Amino acid sequence: MAAPLRVLVTGAAGQIGYSLVLQIAKGDVFGKETPIVLVLLDIPPMAAVLEGVQFELTDCALANLTGVEAVTNEKDAFTNIDYAFLVGAMPRKEGMERKDLLAANVRIFKSQGKALADFAKPTTKVIVVGNPANTNAFICAKYAAGKIPSRNFSAMTRLDHNRASAQVALKSGVTVGNVKNVIIWGNHSSTQFPDVSHAKVTKSSGEVDAVSAVGDAEWLKTGFISLPSQTVQKRGAVIIEKRKLSSAMSAAKAACDHIHDWYKGTPEGVFVSMAVPSDGSYGIPEGLIFSFPVTIANGEWKIVQGLELNDFAQEKIAVTTKELLEERDEALAACGESKQ
Ligand code: NAI
Repeated sequence: MAAPLRVLVTGAAGQIGYSLVLQIAKGDVFGKETPIVLVLLDIPPMAAVLEGVQFELTDCALANLTGVEAVTNEKDAFTNIDYAFLVGAMPRKEGMERKDLLAANVRIFKSQGKALADFAKPTTKVIVVGNPANTNAFICAKYAAGKIPSRNFSAMTRLDHNRASAQVALKSGVTVGNVKNVIIWGNHSSTQFPDVSHAKVTKSSGEVDAVSAVGDAEWLKTGFISLPSQTVQKRGAVIIEKRKLSSAMSAAKAACDHIHDWYKGTPEGVFVSMAVPSDGSYGIPEGLIFSFPVTIANGEWKIVQGLELNDFAQEKIAVTTKELLEERDEALAACGESKQ
């Protein structure tokens, strides 16, 4: 049997954590044949809850789950890990803006970036789920620099990607497996730009572009992007309003999809959305953690090049870029660093 992968989930006593740990443990991410040790981190006041989750995972009697460790300090959490799902953060509550949370949360990610540098494997791959996810990932990568390359850091926009794909499928009268190449550009926030102009839908007549499959170009530019409840940008806020809690089951599934594709690769001709450090593609400032369309092979992501962006797309991408630059500067200030 190969050495087990050590997989860390932070915020494991929280609501996303509760859905996420089972999906990872039963093989949805790394496959049913891959042995795994799950390391669960939460803050000390949550130790008993964490232990409850640990007991439940043991009781799931999963053949490839070779160990479950429940810990409340960063050294034990980050030592020798292969993958980190950084979920733990202060969650957004009804009526709360993401920016309110920024200062508190980036400090957590500064500390975890340092812990990654001190204790994790240099090959560790990281997904940040905790909000503001892109900026937290930026800070985490910054404080792990020198030990772990920045391209090993990512933030999750896969939930938005999945929401967008599901909405296109619903409108097109197909199942979501027949929709590919939707793109989320930018920040995991209400400024993100869900873009279907390169998406394809397989109908009984064959593969067509999403605009003709949906048959409502106006809806794709308006309701699809920002109309509450139907759609992508505001979907998270609507779920909070209805459930009084933020998306958890769908967020956990999306985190699994993100790391699954990073680990296994994307199928030929398919791209997915992932917030990764910009290399300057599409004019996005270098280093900003920005959601791009990516393809993945052999554990390495590549930003899809050469997609045409019309004026509408460029305008939307400029808005989300501006927000990310502002968040970056606020985050650096909160960490006591000067602006870039
Ligand atoms: P939750 O409040 O149920 O769980 C968060 C857990 O993190 C709690 O158990 C808390 O004790 C723990 N925690 C806080 N500080 C920590 C630290 N320094 N180290 C380790 N654990 C710590 O929240 P929930 O619903 O699970 O959401 C978690 C995060 O995910 C939130 O920031 C939320 O906004 C974000 N989120 C991101 C999405 C995305 O698409 N990127 C989608 C949905 C949620």
